[in-house]
Amino acid sequence: MSSQSLANKTILITGAAHRVGACMAKTLHEQGANIILHYRNSKTAAKQLQNELNDMRSNTAFLVQGDLLNYNQIEKIIQQATEQTGQLDVLINNASSFYATEIGTVTEQHWDDLIGANMKAPFFLSQAAFPYLASQNGCIINIVDIHADRPLKTYPVYSTAKAGLVMITKALACELGPDVRVNAIAPGAILWPEGDMDEATKEKIISRTFLKRKGNPGDIAKTALFLINDATYMSGQILTVDGGRSLNS
Ligand SMILES: NC(=O)c1ccc[n+]([C@@H]2O[C@H](COP(=O)([O-])OP(=O)(O)OC[C@H]3O[C@@H](n4cnc5c(N)ncnc54)[C@H](OP(=O)(O)O)[C@@H]3O)[C@@H](O)[C@H]2O)c1
Repeated sequence: MSSQSLANKTILITGAAHRVGACMAKTLHEQGANIILHYRNSKTAAKQLQNELNDMRSNTAFLVQGDLLNYNQIEKIIQQATEQTGQLDVLINNASSFYATEIGTVTEQHWDDLIGANMKAPFFLSQAAFPYLASQNGCIINIVDIHADRPLKTYPVYSTAKAGLVMITKALACELGPDVRVNAIAPGAILWPEGDMDEATKEKIISRTFLKRKGNPGDIAKTALFLINDATYMSGQILTVDGGRSLNS
């Protein structure tokens, strides 16, 4: 593949300041894309990443801020993103909130936050981006989770939200074709959640993979690159990137 396989493409990545989102931004930028980095609170990190990318190729990385729980900001985010280069080729719905919600403690605020960030916002961002993506024969990539399929114990709301995003992927593939392809990536253990996770839990998770190791953000970024560049006859599919963990009985 040429090192500039994404030249002249503009890609919006939500929640792109850190971790998996930032890695996808760097990988896709390396391939020649213009990147719109969306962030909510992480202004400093987003600005730093923007500078890093622009130092490599000037005027190729842009910022857009917004809380995806605020419905009124969704169209604004897409509009601002399209104003940067005058086009939008790819939307990557990566932003997510993730925390346990044990039964008996779940509040409406938990529900609205987890469903809002992981399910509602990707739907409405996709709807708002559709006309721009369609005119470029572009695509949408939703970052879901292997736990969309098999619930993660004590995370019922998060698991439900990601399951909804899987259906959104399939339903929008049906609705947005033939002009726009819609696919998803379902990561397994890629980066440990921020905060406490004890070593025994990490080892247990790793032991359940066939590859006996954790993945890394580059695994997700390379899969996104494949979906953008090479998966030209794929739509409505979920690619699992989990070292085999979800097949382990
Ligand atoms: N990490 C893993 O191993 C793993 C495993 C399975 C699935 N995934 C999925 O892969 C994707 C990336 O994972 P990650 O661990 O890198 O994500 P993350 O660090 O948990 O979250 C990414 C960003 O989402 C943004 N965000 C959260 N709520 C938001 C809201 N209401 N409005 C706007 N932005 C919001 C935050 O932006 P700000 O910091 O700017 O506020 C955050 O930096 C997620 O969709 C996740 O569910 C990850």
